[in-house]
Amino acid sequence: MRPESSTIPALRSTLLAGFLVCLTVNDAMADMSDQAIERRVSELLGQMTLEEKVGQMNQVHSEGPSAVDHLRHSIQSGNIGSILNLVDVGAVNELQRIAVEESRLGIPLMVGRDVIHGFKTVMPIPLGQAASWNPDIVREGARVAALEAATAGINWTFAPMIDISRDARWGRIAEGFGEDAYLVSEMAVAMVEGFQGQDLTAPGSIAACAKHFAGYGAVESGRDYATTNVSEYEMRNYYLRPFKAAVDAGVTTLMASFADINGVPATGNEFLMRQVLRDEWGFDGFVVSDWDSVRQLAIHGLTANDRDSALAAATAGVDMEMFGQSYLQHLPDLVEDGSIDIATINAMVANILRAKFRLGLFENPYTDTSGLPEIANEHALATVQKAALQSVVMLKNDHDTLPLSPEQLDSVAIIGPLADAPYEQLGTWIFDGDRELSVTPLQAIQDMLRKKVSVRYVRAMDTSRSRISEAFDEAVEVASDSDVVLLFLGEESILSGEAHSRADINLPGDQAELVRRVREAGKPVVAVIMAGRPLTLTNIVDQVDAILFAWHPGTMGGPAIADLLFGIESPSGKLPVTFPRMVGQIPIYYNQKNTGKPPSAETVIHIDDIDQHAPQTSFGMTAFHLDAGYTPLFAFGHGLSYGSFEYDNLRVENPEVRPGGMLRVSVDLANTGKAAADEVVQLYVRDLVGNVTRPIRELKGFRRVRVEPGETTAVDFELHTDDLAFYGRDHKLITELGDFHLWIGGSSETDLRAEFRIVE
Ligand code: BGC
Repeated sequence: MRPESSTIPALRSTLLAGFLVCLTVNDAMADMSDQAIERRVSELLGQMTLEEKVGQMNQVHSEGPSAVDHLRHSIQSGNIGSILNLVDVGAVNELQRIAVEESRLGIPLMVGRDVIHGFKTVMPIPLGQAASWNPDIVREGARVAALEAATAGINWTFAPMIDISRDARWGRIAEGFGEDAYLVSEMAVAMVEGFQGQDLTAPGSIAACAKHFAGYGAVESGRDYATTNVSEYEMRNYYLRPFKAAVDAGVTTLMASFADINGVPATGNEFLMRQVLRDEWGFDGFVVSDWDSVRQLAIHGLTANDRDSALAAATAGVDMEMFGQSYLQHLPDLVEDGSIDIATINAMVANILRAKFRLGLFENPYTDTSGLPEIANEHALATVQKAALQSVVMLKNDHDTLPLSPEQLDSVAIIGPLADAPYEQLGTWIFDGDRELSVTPLQAIQDMLRKKVSVRYVRAMDTSRSRISEAFDEAVEVASDSDVVLLFLGEESILSGEAHSRADINLPGDQAELVRRVREAGKPVVAVIMAGRPLTLTNIVDQVDAILFAWHPGTMGGPAIADLLFGIESPSGKLPVTFPRMVGQIPIYYNQKNTGKPPSAETVIHIDDIDQHAPQTSFGMTAFHLDAGYTPLFAFGHGLSYGSFEYDNLRVENPEVRPGGMLRVSVDLANTGKAAADEVVQLYVRDLVGNVTRPIRELKGFRRVRVEPGETTAVDFELHTDDLAFYGRDHKLITELGDFHLWIGGSSETDLRAEFRIVE
């Protein structure tokens, strides 16, 4: 399956010559220390004309066979610093050759692409990866993606997407790691490490891009591209934290968000890109705009025209413009007329050149595919299968319906639009994902049961949105003739992702009706749901006996799901995001504030129970909805197992700790069930009193541990007092003295509690 080894034949000799030149250059310039790179950056910068500098700040889109002819002249003239969306190693190598050999200064290109959760071999969507709570598998998945993407000449991916979101309506929630700053940060770091590898110059290491800076996940009503309003408190304590973690992990680039944030669209937002990113965090990579988001500043109404937009974005700190070319057209004039300082431009170009040096592109701009592993090799497939396996969350399992035992079954009914949908199971943002590689649940189950058990399949609906119920009778008939019904429901991949937000997040089409009808057969019903977001499952949750929530599980989703259904492995995914009962509860998230009137089971009144003539009083009332209460359908961190986990003996070794000290905590975890299983042990804290109010719980640690049946294991955590720091009233990071509560358990709803104190 390896794509053709390098390049266009006519180019071979030139390339060889290129490699030889590179070898010499390489020898002379092997010093990759910061000082050496800074020296090379400033030498190069000193030779550049203003037009060449602005050229580096210009990223153009190009795809297809005409790319080389189309871009040749601009690259020769030094007008292009980066291209995106060209996925053809021969063409990329030729463009690199033109850049290196035919432009005056020979500066290689950054070659970008959205490799979000896999290239040809596809991991679960990032939200699913987050449900694994396993940074190791996320890192490995990104590694696989980088190695595959590199075969196409790609040296830069626009990932990880690390926008925190508390809104399941937002289609792009699929692309991120959920609602919690700590979990998202851990995953962000893992993904950056996976893409960039230990050595950025090594074949198969590609630059990562943390996006979208910042606050994009807070778009109003979950409508993509809409306005965001995020207070500085929320920004610093939540939305910015994963970006800080990515910067600390050495991410090469960041991407500015499309959205208006507190009145200044992110692409023109100096506070974010200059004050926070550069001055406070010391980031020295570069920032790319989002697609045409510089020119969109005028559509937002921040600027009057493209010229002003270029000025605003460059002033605010967008180093490279993706698409749009307003930089190319206007920055030279803006420098000439003194609107923008050449020192500002120099610093921005230096950021870009620095990244190119760090990637080793000056030493070797070319891709030699013979040094890269095959696409979809055994390791790649095993990695994405393991990720899928660990990402599936068992939401409910009444009467131990699962796992199924083939020995006790004669027949299985497989019903639903997503049982055999190779493309849909890949999820959003799979520009290059190969549907031919997908193994669907239907294929995997048939394979596993091999004729020992009869498997009958009724698709029942063409798409998840279908409102044609003609095939439902057949589905009921097959269900009646089977021992168990496996219903594959959810959303197609196109219903989530960029620009695909929904206001109603129930199962679309007539799926709830299909569930109701199939239920009539009176057989155990297991729902396997594939979706790009949390869904409000309130209308089906009581109609089925068990639910596996599988997100869009990627290439090997089928075998992973089959292994879980039949107990080869136990489910171990945990929700990285809260599932609401109803859309009206959004935003709903576990780390809420207490409020002055915190709700409790005792204070909730249901709308049906209110006496018609009850007096209009707030006495004794608390923060809940009359029709939804205050609890979610499924809480953050929730996820069931075939193991039976008991937590006990929670102990804080040093319940009084000084600032700068380390808190040591442990708990005994027993598996009293019959199945070996992984459990994700979660640690939460509450800072009882703060100079700003603190959430009722905050995740501060987690560990995935394997526990054999009958085994008890001690799970230890260490928490530095810095881990308890927060941004206070003056937006400075502080750790306050005082009392804390600490919980450990298998979900954010755990009530196993201990206490500790930070003392002087
Ligand atoms: C998206 C980015 C993406 C870019 C390039 C934009 O529409 O918001 O996330 O990287 O396109 O494809």
